[in-house]
Amino acid sequence: MRQFFRLIVLACLLVPATLAAKKTETVINVIPYPQSVEIGKGTFKAAGANFNCDQAIDAKSLNLIREFASRMTFVCGRTNSFATPVGLQKVLATGKMKGFFFLKDASKGPEEYSIDINKKSCVVRAAAYNGFLYAIQTLKQLTDVEIFSEQVNPSQKFLFPCVSIKDKPRFGYRGMHLDCARHFFPVEEVKKYLDIMAVYKLNRMHWHITDDQGWRVEIKKYPKLTQVGAYRNGTMVGKNFRSNDGVRYGGYYTQDQIKDIVDYAANLGITIVPEIDLPGHMMGALAGYPELGCSGGPYEVWTIWGVSDKVLCPGKEETFKFLEDVLTEIMDLFPSEYIHIGGDECPKTEWEKCPDCQARIKALGIKGDSKHTAEQYLQSYVTARIQKFLNDHGRKIIGWDEILEGELAPGATVMSWRGVKGGVQASAMGFDVIMTPNTYCYFDYYQSKEQDKEPLAIGGHLPIEQVYGYEPFDGLDGSQQKHILGVQANLWTEYIATPEHLEYMLLPRMSALSEVQWCQREGKDFERFSAAMRAESFKIFDTLGYNYRKF
Ligand code: ACM
Ligand code: ZN
Repeated sequence: MRQFFRLIVLACLLVPATLAAKKTETVINVIPYPQSVEIGKGTFKAAGANFNCDQAIDAKSLNLIREFASRMTFVCGRTNSFATPVGLQKVLATGKMKGFFFLKDASKGPEEYSIDINKKSCVVRAAAYNGFLYAIQTLKQLTDVEIFSEQVNPSQKFLFPCVSIKDKPRFGYRGMHLDCARHFFPVEEVKKYLDIMAVYKLNRMHWHITDDQGWRVEIKKYPKLTQVGAYRNGTMVGKNFRSNDGVRYGGYYTQDQIKDIVDYAANLGITIVPEIDLPGHMMGALAGYPELGCSGGPYEVWTIWGVSDKVLCPGKEETFKFLEDVLTEIMDLFPSEYIHIGGDECPKTEWEKCPDCQARIKALGIKGDSKHTAEQYLQSYVTARIQKFLNDHGRKIIGWDEILEGELAPGATVMSWRGVKGGVQASAMGFDVIMTPNTYCYFDYYQSKEQDKEPLAIGGHLPIEQVYGYEPFDGLDGSQQKHILGVQANLWTEYIATPEHLEYMLLPRMSALSEVQWCQREGKDFERFSAAMRAESFKIFDTLGYNYRKF
């Protein structure tokens, strides 16, 4: 029989049998590992157990718990009844309860939960939706992996170890990025991506949906963004920048599909942070609206990877009208407090020659200095103007660490990607920071040094041990640490064209990332993590049908 958790028998075989000290140890294979775990003796049998929920729990959380009860009923092939009885707290006070109990505990933080399991009952306490959600994710990893399956498993008992868990995350922002611009992934794959993020308690998906190689979000006021900008005339082959496979490529998400994905993510406790990358990485938009570029075009959706020097013209007022219109529709689609405005890799060669850009520089009285060129300060002007527009609409900006070049207005959040130095600098200056250093968090890098055994990747070397070993507070003093909102890994898809390849680059590195995001420094242990991956997480991937790299 397949056990739900590992019973490791530590027997010293070298010692004579009479002296052999036999010790059994229950191991909890939950990833990310909870903050506090106290293991008891025995098990709780969930098959057929009743669900009892506190009436004080909000309707959305109750639905979530009901779904968990239904899943239990389905996989067990036995009914787990669901009720919200009055006087539940009194029943608990007697200590004579049986079954599952979900209770509201307003003293907990919004992402915090506790689980207390003895032989008769499993008691979950949380204050809010994400707390209940994470408790359920933990419960699923405590029992038979068939809890994730689409098949009825009447032979399984769905036992849970007797255990007390108290848990809450280290960081509030636990992100995973997805580039759907270089390659387009259908709605179902985006949802599958979100599903596995939720298993590991990530709560932000940074969605990169515009770039030189394709504009992927329907904007009603600018139909050519998708009619023209969502399709490219072929794609370079492998690493040959002079090649083209001759296959027209593209796709985009309609506004209805975006709303559907945003709602789907919200049920998984995930906020989608959209990125409209500006003022560089804009060839998709320029192909449809060439008047927004310095030269007026013509432009085409790019068929190769890299950094294009064809960028938006901030000398022209229409450019700002365009950006504000686009961002207005983006704000309607995405309730996220943060809107990512890119800001990375914006060459200034066109701006240096453009009469409109130079006139803007003059009119603003911008002057280059020993630190930055006038054109870099012009990008700061773009950032500040868009930041003000979004702030006026109740939103905040995130930008890649290039937004530090020049001047940055208070209230911006910096995403440190060129190593950790942008994060170190920004936090010292008092800006909030999300750490996504390419040295630890770029999942488009190779997972092994044996590149010939791996699918084609952009380069680099980022094995799972390296991801796991990342400590976001290294090199930061106490006041800087307070500005670290969290950690995110990025998955750029220049060389990733299929869902199978995407999942392979994501997993299992995202599981390692989840412990960087969730666990306190002292709660991490690569040996424990690796064993749990092999004992439980690989089985979850197999059951749910994800492609992944074994280690
Ligand atoms: C980036 O990787 N260009 C942010
Ligand atoms: Zn210009």
